[in-house]
Amino acid sequence: MSGPRKLFVKSYGCQMNVYDSNRMADVLAPHGFVETAAPEDADLVILNTCHIREKAAEKVYSELGRIRKLKEAAARDDRPMTVAVAGCVAQAEGEEILRRAPVVDLVVGPQSYHRLPALIDRLAREGRVLDTEFPVEDKFDFLEPPSRAATRARGVTAFVTVQEGCDRFCTFCVVPYTRGAEVSRPVAQVVAEVERLAAAGVREVTLIGQNVNAYHGGGPGGAEWSLGRLLQRVAEIEGIARLRYTTSHPADVDDTLIAAHRDLPQLMPCLHLPVQSGSDRVLTAMKRRHTRAHYIDIVERLRTARADLALTSDFIVGFPGETEQDFHETITLVDHICFAGAFSFKYSPRPGTPAAVMAEQLPDAIKVERLSRLQTAIDRHQAAFNARTLGKTFSVLLEKSGRHPGQLVGRSPYLQPVQVMAAPALIGEIVTVRITEVGPNSLFGVLDEPLSAARPGQTALAAAGA
Ligand code: 5AD
Ligand code: SF4
Repeated sequence: MSGPRKLFVKSYGCQMNVYDSNRMADVLAPHGFVETAAPEDADLVILNTCHIREKAAEKVYSELGRIRKLKEAAARDDRPMTVAVAGCVAQAEGEEILRRAPVVDLVVGPQSYHRLPALIDRLAREGRVLDTEFPVEDKFDFLEPPSRAATRARGVTAFVTVQEGCDRFCTFCVVPYTRGAEVSRPVAQVVAEVERLAAAGVREVTLIGQNVNAYHGGGPGGAEWSLGRLLQRVAEIEGIARLRYTTSHPADVDDTLIAAHRDLPQLMPCLHLPVQSGSDRVLTAMKRRHTRAHYIDIVERLRTARADLALTSDFIVGFPGETEQDFHETITLVDHICFAGAFSFKYSPRPGTPAAVMAEQLPDAIKVERLSRLQTAIDRHQAAFNARTLGKTFSVLLEKSGRHPGQLVGRSPYLQPVQVMAAPALIGEIVTVRITEVGPNSLFGVLDEPLSAARPGQTALAAAGA
């Protein structure tokens, strides 16, 4: 293989895609690919796509229009550029992408990333290649572990995929079709990966999966471990001061997970627990397999286990058949739980999902109007949550330099960006910060004494009742 080839990867959508993009770079590194931030210089451009809502897929096609111009310019300089589409749009649309976007050379689904080098070799022989199989082998057994150098370059926080795919088949959701059946990684594999990350300086790990608390990976003795038990084990790894996990399903919150929130100071007191709707009628039509009352009960049990727990959520408005009364119940749920933040989306029919062919699809105007009312309610609670942080002290993991000289940016236990004047040597440290100002997008604070790394949860607990 001749000199280094340049790789540009762009990720859309969820954190799983960010993780997968890094793994693709790791798989290609031994084959002479080095990452570049400039797509125009790249020999290989990979768009790692998202199919969860309509706009996500449309963005990919418009990005491909821009890439086509770069590819033509490169060709004029006699530099062939290979363009690959990966991720969930690749999985869902397959052939359609090759037909609709002639600029694309390779379409590769999420289960085939470990085969990327071979697929690129095949391109030379076959011109264009499509690989969206769900292979029998487990891709986790073949993907490169994150390299030490790469980890260092990527900072003090990291994602680790612990499960992939979903067996729940909520009627609006494309994930079970694009990511396939639920697969959990064995405990030993997860632990080894987190140990490697810790050795490379990572302080905060987020365990990720499409339905992360459906985790049921094989433990050392052969028994299946729950996510709660896995968190207990990962919390023992030296150097890992903070743990998070996402995205979870309310019906899969079990006692071991609630116990983990009670017992592990490393487990940050914030939880993203999508509910989608506050109406039992809609929840049933969505096949969420829990009621509004069940959701409230889970939240109460979690808050009993960890008093300072903040909740965030996802909502869909304008699901087929959603009445004004159903929507009203979503608003009252938001007011009841007082979410610290939430994402809300207009229902978007995904081809191949049951809800897409349900009668009573709602007009866009209703969706737009409900979305705006819901967002107003969510914003009000988020602003109140942020305002309550004023004067409190938090543990903050300092991640990088800020925009102004002498300023560092870190994250509070609640994932809020916190700006603070501090020496660059403190990057990677967990410090105590007193919040002196609440801005629209971040908090501002002053440094107290540095926190001992061995007692990472202490100030988070001190902020109980935020
Ligand atoms: N339409 C709108 N929103 C959706 N989501 C998933 N599928 C759809 C869809 N078809 C939202 C859900 C989910 C988040 C990741 O995206 O709220 O929790
Ligand atoms: Fe989609 Fe989550 Fe439902 Fe699975 S549990 S089908 S990923 S919304």
